[in-house]
Amino acid sequence: MLFFLALLACISSVVAAPAPAATVTRPPKGAATVGAVKVDNPDLDSEGNGCRAGSVGAAFASDNSALTLIFDDFQAAIGPAAGDLRKRAFCRVNVTLTSPGWAFDVSSVDFRSYVNIAKGVDVSLVSRWKWIDKKGVDMEGKGNVKKVLSGPFQEDFLLHNKDGELSDSQQSVCSKASATFQLSISATLSASGSSLPGLVQGSAADAKFGQLLNLTWRKC
Ligand SMILES: *[C@@H]1O[C@H](CO)[C@@H](O)[C@H](O)[C@H]1NC(C)=O
Ligand SMILES: *[C@@H]1O[C@H](CO)[C@@H](O)[C@H](O)[C@H]1NC(C)=O
Repeated sequence: MLFFLALLACISSVVAAPAPAATVTRPPKGAATVGAVKVDNPDLDSEGNGCRAGSVGAAFASDNSALTLIFDDFQAAIGPAAGDLRKRAFCRVNVTLTSPGWAFDVSSVDFRSYVNIAKGVDVSLVSRWKWIDKKGVDMEGKGNVKKVLSGPFQEDFLLHNKDGELSDSQQSVCSKASATFQLSISATLSASGSSLPGLVQGSAADAKFGQLLNLTWRKC
């Protein structure tokens, strides 16, 4: 019996061996780091609420499977109760990312937010990213994603974009040291009537707007 089990184990390991190993190619823990996070002046976008210096955080997941950006003050509103908020929120950040010997592409994007829009109101969430070199010149590697929600809709949500929903994707090059990853996000509300209410803001859980970029890595 023991012999039989051993034989079986032996056979199954032989059979299992040629199957493509489920290894994920990623830099080891700690090999990808986030340096400076620079936020553009809020006045850059005259129609919308911007984000202020110090209000955006960026971090790689500990296994480097994703890059998360957290926006402390990203909100837009329309309608009678909008107050000081404008119909559009826009934020652009330059993030210094270092991952010697590795390059990544964005394979999917999640938005984490709270949205409350009446019937007749739409919200468009757009995120674009690209790489720029030290002189501010575009390098290869970019993409964008757009998601439109139509009211009535009220939810604290995690919006997931699957592979293939990214547009204008271009594979990144093996970056030079300290290349900058530039990401901009916008949330724009539009309504068919001026009294219709709409609100986009951070998740109810922690009042923060989040974006998670799922990464695919390759060795340079
Ligand atoms: C981000 O990079 C762009 C392109 O180099 C530059 O024009 C912009 O001023 C930078 N923003 C900040 C806040 O550094
Ligand atoms: C990241 O992408 C992989 C491969 O496309 C997928 O299996 C996984 O579910 C994605 N994870 C997230 C958090 O989007």
